[in-house]
Amino acid sequence: MGGSTSANVVLGVGGGIAAYKACLLLRLLTEAGHQVTVVPTAAALRFVGAPTWEALSGRPVSDSVWQDVYDVPHVRLGQRADLVVVAPATADLLARAANGIADDLLTTTLLTARCPVLMAPAMHTEMWLHPATQANVATLRARGVLVLDPAEGRLTGADSGPGRLPEPEQLYAACLPHLPSSSHPTAASAVSEPGAVGVPGPLAGRRVVVSAGGTREALDPVRFLGNRSSGKQGYALAEVAAALGAEVTLVSANVYLPAPTGVELVKVESALQMLAAMTAASESADVVVMAAAVADFRPARYVDTKIKKTHDPDDPDAAPTITLVRNPDILATLVADRAKRAAGTLSGSSMTPATPLIVGFAAETGDASGDVLDHARAKLTRKGCDLLVANQVGSDLVFGQDVTTVHILAPDGSVQRGAPGSKHDAARQIWAAVAQRLGERPGL
Ligand code: C5P
Repeated sequence: MGGSTSANVVLGVGGGIAAYKACLLLRLLTEAGHQVTVVPTAAALRFVGAPTWEALSGRPVSDSVWQDVYDVPHVRLGQRADLVVVAPATADLLARAANGIADDLLTTTLLTARCPVLMAPAMHTEMWLHPATQANVATLRARGVLVLDPAEGRLTGADSGPGRLPEPEQLYAACLPHLPSSSHPTAASAVSEPGAVGVPGPLAGRRVVVSAGGTREALDPVRFLGNRSSGKQGYALAEVAAALGAEVTLVSANVYLPAPTGVELVKVESALQMLAAMTAASESADVVVMAAAVADFRPARYVDTKIKKTHDPDDPDAAPTITLVRNPDILATLVADRAKRAAGTLSGSSMTPATPLIVGFAAETGDASGDVLDHARAKLTRKGCDLLVANQVGSDLVFGQDVTTVHILAPDGSVQRGAPGSKHDAARQIWAAVAQRLGERPGL
C-alpha cells in the first residue's frame, strides 16, 4: 500500500446468517476509499447473493478458482492484498483455514496472503466453545492470524450467548490499524491517538461528544444510588460516529463494555463529574449527545466512613433516613451554556464560540396523560435541545437489551419513526439525522 491512502482489501465472507452484516462493513471500507474484493464461500452466497456484493464493491465476485483463470485469481488476490478480513468466519471456515485446506477461492487466498489476516468468528455458542473450534482458533492465532473474540448477545432464533458477529463499526475499527489513513501518516497512529481515525465520511472533521452509562451517587465509600443503564446505546453511538469519520470523546459512567477503538474515553462516576467532563468536552464540539442515564437526585450528604447498622435492642429495626438533593440537569445546562456562549456572556469562553448541535434522549413508558411521543415532545421543549431521541422503556425493554426502537423528534414538530433494530442500527439512524442537520447549519 506504500504511501497511498487506499488499500487492497479482500473481504472473505463465510456461510453464516451474519453475512448480511458484512455488507455494512464493505460499505465502510469502500467509503473510506479502499478497493475491496469480496470473496464469499459457496455457502455465503446462499445467504447474500453475488449481485449484492458486486453492486456494493463495484467489482466482480466469485467463490470459484475456475473463473478468470488467466488471471490466476487463487494466487493473485492473496498476493496483492494489504489486508484480508473474514467476516463472518464460520466453524467450518476456521477448521479449513487451520488445516490449510484450499478448496475454494477464499481458502486459497488465505494460503497465499502474506498481509495481516483478520478473522471474525460467528456461530452458535456450542460450536464456538467446542474444543475442535477452540483448537483451530489457537492454531490460527499461533500462526499470526488475528482472530477476534465473538460478541455476546442474540444469536439466530431465540438463543443468546457468545458467538455473535461484532457490529460492522467494531469490525471496521479492528481493521483500522492495518489500513492507511487519509489524514495521518501511518495507519497505526490513526488508531493509537484518540479520535484520530481520519476517515472520510458524513461526520469527517466533526468533533462529537457522547455521554453513556448510568451515574452512581455515593452514599458512603461502599454504597451508591444507581440505575440499570448498560451504556450500550452510548457506546454504539461513539463507535458509529468514529466509523463515520468523527473525532469522538466518550464520557462514560460505570459500564462493563470494552473501550471503543479510536475514541477518547473519559471515565466518570457521578452526575457532578459527568457535568464537569461534558462541559469541558463540549466547549469545542460540533455535536453533543446526552445518551447517559443521569441520576436526578444524589444523597445530600456523603458519609466518608461506612454507614453502620445500630444494635439498639429497644429499636432493632432502626434505619437511617437519606435526604436527597437535586442533581443539575446536564443537558439543560449544556443548552443554556451554548446560549450564553453565543451571547458572549459565559466566563472563560473562547473568542470563537462553539455552538454545538445538542441531542437529548427520552426513555419513556407512556402513561394515562400521554404516549411516548407526547412525553418526548414535552421534554424536547423543556430541555431546549435540537433533536430528541425517544424510546419506549419498561422492565424488559431497552435497558441492557440489544434491540431498541427509536423515534427522532425535532423542534419543528417532525418525527422520524424508527423500526426495531440493534443499538448500532439506532446509532446509524441518529447520526444520519445529525448529519442532515449539520448540513443545514452552514456556520458549523
Ligand atoms: O429529564 P430526563 O431524565 O427524562 O431527560 C433525559 C435526558 O436528559 C437524557 O438526554 C439525559 O442524558 C439528560 N439528563 C441530564 N441530566 C440529568 C438528567 C437527565 O443531562 N440530571
